[in-house]
Amino acid sequence: MSLLIRNGEIVTADSRSRADIYCEGETITRIGAGLEAPPGAQVVDATGKYVFPGFIDPHVHITLPFMGTFAKDTYETGSKAALVGGTTTLIEMCCPSRADDALAGFEHWMAQAAGRSACDFTFHMGATRYDAATESQLREIVRRGISSFKIFLAYKGAFGIDDSELYRTLKLARELGVVVTAHCENETLVAERQRELLAEGRTGTGEHHESRPPVVEAEGVNHLMTFAEVTGAHTYIVHLSCARALGRAIAARRRGVHVSVETLIQYLVLDKTWAEKPDFEGAKYVMSPPLRDAANQAVLWDGLRDGLIQTVATDHAPFDFQSQKQMGRSDFTRIPNGIPSLEERINLLYTHGVRAGRIDLHTLVNAASTRIAKEFDLFPRKGTIQPGADADLVVFDPAYRGVISAKTQHMNVDYSAFEGWKIEGRPSVVTVRGEVAVRDGKFVGDPVRGRFLSRTPSRA
Ligand code: URP
Ligand code: ZN
Ligand code: ZN
Repeated sequence: MSLLIRNGEIVTADSRSRADIYCEGETITRIGAGLEAPPGAQVVDATGKYVFPGFIDPHVHITLPFMGTFAKDTYETGSKAALVGGTTTLIEMCCPSRADDALAGFEHWMAQAAGRSACDFTFHMGATRYDAATESQLREIVRRGISSFKIFLAYKGAFGIDDSELYRTLKLARELGVVVTAHCENETLVAERQRELLAEGRTGTGEHHESRPPVVEAEGVNHLMTFAEVTGAHTYIVHLSCARALGRAIAARRRGVHVSVETLIQYLVLDKTWAEKPDFEGAKYVMSPPLRDAANQAVLWDGLRDGLIQTVATDHAPFDFQSQKQMGRSDFTRIPNGIPSLEERINLLYTHGVRAGRIDLHTLVNAASTRIAKEFDLFPRKGTIQPGADADLVVFDPAYRGVISAKTQHMNVDYSAFEGWKIEGRPSVVTVRGEVAVRDGKFVGDPVRGRFLSRTPSRA
């Protein structure tokens, strides 16, 4: 099986050239001008199009038991939605609750994905408690090919860990060379604010922001940075939403703390007024940390452009509006958190970032692919276009014009947070290890081609 992608403009994190890409089996083997297709090779004409390395989403929830319900996607639906949107690798948060064993959790999450995914996948292993048994299970999970942990400084009683657990998890990560990804909000402040607001009868969707304002997130970041400084662990702040929290991360980085920052496409293009929409519409936009004042968006875009923010993810967490989000109709603390966006990340980043002149194409590729592959021990197998890399490629048509709608999306959820939004450009062909998976917005590939990506820790 061979594939020739002809005459596209190849864009990586640091280069741009017009050339052909030849893939044999699962791998890119040659890049150059005027490459010949041997008999039987599949040929894709990429004239007038960009060719990007397959995008990686470093923060998704496919299997998520959360707030009394379950996220709606499965690997059957989620991986196809990812591919249609140009994402060829998923890194899912494996999130057993505090009551569950880490190893059983890992095996459960793996069973949901193995043999069911159209794209490649791996996991950040949730460390949702710390004791002797958990420690030895985390060591075993690292031996099985996981090189990053996930911790929550929020969600008291569900996934959240206390300070001793935080310290021990970071020390173990440092010893094993594992990166620790972290949800940073002060869980005590959130719980106290929620209690006060509800007692005052403030139950609406807009109050979600008031229960976890920027200072609560900034405190969470600062807290993590203190523990990272003491332990020397490598940390990665997930879903950073605001200027105030970014300031704390930058200050820590300047004093030598190992920290990378992820923001989300939602924070770049939506502000908190969406979560204040009347008639409970705002529930579609409830996530944590919450959508912020619009003034934060420019800070996030600039941070991305200037390399202060390293990656853009989705934190895809799909809950139906008509049923699941309704659980919080009279109490915002019961609205399942999350804004589904797995399918739209690249199109929105291109439209509102590149086309709007906020970031260039290289920043897009870096923040949504290359840097993620480097952060999480997937580079250069993933995240770039070079001989020897996996042939995960996105042929992107900048001339496409379309409109986002829940009616046409592949994500298994009953609404789109971006309903009616215009997009400029989309993937026209997407390949998974040398096989075409998407053509013009339709999944046409092998629904079970995806493989688990075993990773070796590199931060030792
Ligand atoms: O609101 C969010 N972020 N939902 C998913 C769970 C999490 O915090 O990552
Ligand atoms: Zn989170
Ligand atoms: Zn998340």
